[in-house]
Amino acid sequence: PVLVIDFGAQYAQLIARRVREANVYSEIMPHNATAAEIAAKNPVGIVLSGGPSSVYEEGSPSLDPGILQLGVPVLGICYGFQVMAQQLGGEVAHTGKREYGSTELTVSTGNGGVLLDGQPDAQTVWMSHGDSVSKAPEGFEVLASSPSTPVAAFASDERQLYGVQWHPEVKHSTFGQQVLENFLHRAAGIPDDWNPGNVIAEQVERIRAQIGDARVICGLSGGVDSAVAAALVQKAVGDQLTCVFVDHGLLRQDEARQVQEDYVQATGVRLVTIDAEAQFLDALAGVSDPEQKRKIIGREFIRTFENAAEALVLEAQSDGEAIKFLVQGTLYPDVVESGGGTGTANIKSHHNVGGLPDDLTFELVEPLRTLFKDEVRAIGRELGLPEVVVSRQPFPGPGLGIRIVGEVTRERLDLLRIADAIVREELTAAGLDNEIWQCPVVLLADVRSVGVQGDGRTYGHPIVLRPVSSEDAMTADWTRLPYDLLARVSNRITNEVAGVNRVVLDVTSKPPGTIEWE
Ligand code: XMP
Repeated sequence: PVLVIDFGAQYAQLIARRVREANVYSEIMPHNATAAEIAAKNPVGIVLSGGPSSVYEEGSPSLDPGILQLGVPVLGICYGFQVMAQQLGGEVAHTGKREYGSTELTVSTGNGGVLLDGQPDAQTVWMSHGDSVSKAPEGFEVLASSPSTPVAAFASDERQLYGVQWHPEVKHSTFGQQVLENFLHRAAGIPDDWNPGNVIAEQVERIRAQIGDARVICGLSGGVDSAVAAALVQKAVGDQLTCVFVDHGLLRQDEARQVQEDYVQATGVRLVTIDAEAQFLDALAGVSDPEQKRKIIGREFIRTFENAAEALVLEAQSDGEAIKFLVQGTLYPDVVESGGGTGTANIKSHHNVGGLPDDLTFELVEPLRTLFKDEVRAIGRELGLPEVVVSRQPFPGPGLGIRIVGEVTRERLDLLRIADAIVREELTAAGLDNEIWQCPVVLLADVRSVGVQGDGRTYGHPIVLRPVSSEDAMTADWTRLPYDLLARVSNRITNEVAGVNRVVLDVTSKPPGTIEWE
C-alpha cells in the first residue's frame, strides 16, 4: 500500500481517498508509527499529511527519522513538508506570515520537476500554514514559490523525496490531483491498477476463511453499508447468512418494502423482518429531547435485534449449529476515527443504530473496514445490487425520529413521510440525486405559524428542507438548489401535506450547523 501518515486534523483521510482515486491502494498510519512498523507494511510510497500544529510547538507531532531513510518514495504535504525539511537539514522559519486559502503559486521557470511536470507556471493552490520552509535541504531542488513562501515545493529525484507546502488533496488546488498522480505514478513508479472491484475477490476469500461453515447474521438497516456488507458475505458463504431487518416505524415511505423486495429480489438472501413500530412509538411517547430520543431508539433497537438473534440462535441450535458471527457495515473512516480498532470483540457504537452492547457474544465480520463510502457504492454496483439500494442517500439510524423537532407520534411521522417522499421524488426527477449528499426533511412540530389557504386562516407547522453537499459528512455546505425546483417542492408540500402551511430552506453550512437538526 501507500501509507498516509496522519499528523492530525482530517487531512489524512482525504489524502488516502485521493490516492485511491488515482487507483493506488492506501492506508492511514498514526504519526507515531516507528520506521520498523512502517517497513513491516511493505509500503510502495509514503505521504506525510498536513496537520494543525507548528513544528515549533512543544509536543508537536514528529516523525521517526528512520522513515525517511527506508528508501521508500515520500511526499510531504504542508506540515509533513515542514517536518521533512527539518529532518533533512533544511530550515523552517517562524515568519509570522500566515497564508490561508487560495494562493498564487509560481512554478520555478522550466523547473517544476517530475512533481509539477506539465503544469502552468502560475496556478492557484490552497494553503493553510503559519511557518514556512525558508531553505531547502541540501541536494534538494526548489520547485515553486508563493508570495510568503520562498520554498513552496522541493524535490530530490535521486532520493525520491518530495514535498509541497500547499494541499494538493483539496479541490481548490487546481492541479492538486495531478501533483499526487505525478508523485505516485511517475516519481514513485506505482502502477494504477487498484480499484474497489479488486476488493471483492479478496474479501470473499477472507470471509470464507473467517466463517468456515458456521452460520452468520447481519442487521440490515436499509442503508448502503449494511446492504453491501451482507451481499459480500452472501457471495462468500451463501445460505449460511440470515439478515435481520428491524422496522422501527421511523423509516421513510416505502423503505421497509424496498429492503424486503428490492434487496431480497436482487440477492435471494434469507431475510427476517421484525415489525417493532408499536414498541418504538410507545417508548418514544411524550419525549421531545433529542438526546433522549436517540438513546431510547438505540436501546429499543438493541433489544429487538437481540431478541431476533436469540430466536435465530435457538432455531439454529435445534439443528446443532449456533450463530457465532455478526456482519457489520463498518467503514474505514469509522475505523480510523476509533483509533484503528482491532477487528473483533470490542464493538464501538454502531453508527447505524446508536450502539450495540459491549458484551455481545458474536465475533464481527467487517468486510468494508478498509473502504470509503464511494468505494462501497462501487462494490455494491459490481455485486449487482439495484441502483435504488446502492445510491441511497445516507439516512440516520434513528430515522425520522430525529427529524421531528418535538414529540414523535405516528400522525406526525405520516406527515413527514409524505413531505420527504415529495422532496425525494422531485430531486430525482430534476436529476439532482448525485449532486447532493443528502436532503433531510424536518418537521418543526413544536412551531406553528399563521397561513391562509383557500378562504381560511391556518395555523400549521413548517417543514424545513436541508439539502447539503458533502464528501464525507464531516463538513458540508448547503446545496444551491434551483429556484424552480424549490418552488415546486414548496407548492406540493403545502398542498399535499395536511397541517403544513410553510416550507423553509436551511442555508447553514456544517460547521456551524450539523446536517441533521437533532
Ligand atoms: P450530523 O447531523 O452529525 O450528521 O452532521 C452527519 C451524518 O451522519 C448521519 N447521522 C447518523 N447516522 N446514526 C447514523 O447512522 C445516527 O445516529 C446519525 N446521526 C446523524 C447524518 O444523516 C449525516 O449523514
